[in-house]
Amino acid sequence: MDEALRLRYLDAMGIDVWVLRALAYAQLPAAEASFADAAESETSASDGWEALQTAVANCTKCGLCTTRTRTVFGSGNKNADWLLIGEAPGQHEDEQGMPFVGNAGLLLTEMIRAMGLAREEVFITNIIKCRPPSNRDPHVDEVASCNEYLQQQIKMIQPKIILAVGRIAAQTLLNTDAPLGRLRGEVHHLNNTPVVVVYHPAYLLRSLPEKRKAWQDLQLAMQTVKESED
Ligand code: URA
Repeated sequence: MDEALRLRYLDAMGIDVWVLRALAYAQLPAAEASFADAAESETSASDGWEALQTAVANCTKCGLCTTRTRTVFGSGNKNADWLLIGEAPGQHEDEQGMPFVGNAGLLLTEMIRAMGLAREEVFITNIIKCRPPSNRDPHVDEVASCNEYLQQQIKMIQPKIILAVGRIAAQTLLNTDAPLGRLRGEVHHLNNTPVVVVYHPAYLLRSLPEKRKAWQDLQLAMQTVKESED
């Protein structure tokens, strides 16, 4: 991305450039004795992942299959420590088959970068995998139809943290009607995985005063991962 645009997004987030740090997450080498086992389970894990991708691509479980251009499975590192879950694909995502590729996606990428991570290091997906017409909120039956795919993704990725991006993602994952303002600022759990709620970047682009709270939430998430590693 153009550097000037990147700096504008950071400025909009209230993030000083000097805050940025390049944190490389070191991969621990597999112990030699368990190498064969690990290779075998990796093969079956990747078979399962591909089967899931195919199931999503061919899904006709709800009416959105008749209006979508493409399904949006998600993108990034399938062994990621960080799993970011948004609401639903919008127009650009529906056209490209990738999550968060519009303006909100540019800001989300900057939020990830501000945490010292690269977009390729995390995994990004949505509560539902098809675009609702005119970007309306997903219907209950659509969320229910897609839930199995999302749960499988969580199970396979086994992230250290889930970032619930925006109200719909937060309310769906935490099974609550509470407003986002009450859900942010604390660590929730989904089974044993910590969940931190952040404002949706599309909302932040419209509501700059909330940017500092968003940065606080990202810091809470970073702290939570750090503590899980200590
Ligand atoms: N908004 C979302 O919640 N998800 C996307 O993939 C794009 C925009």
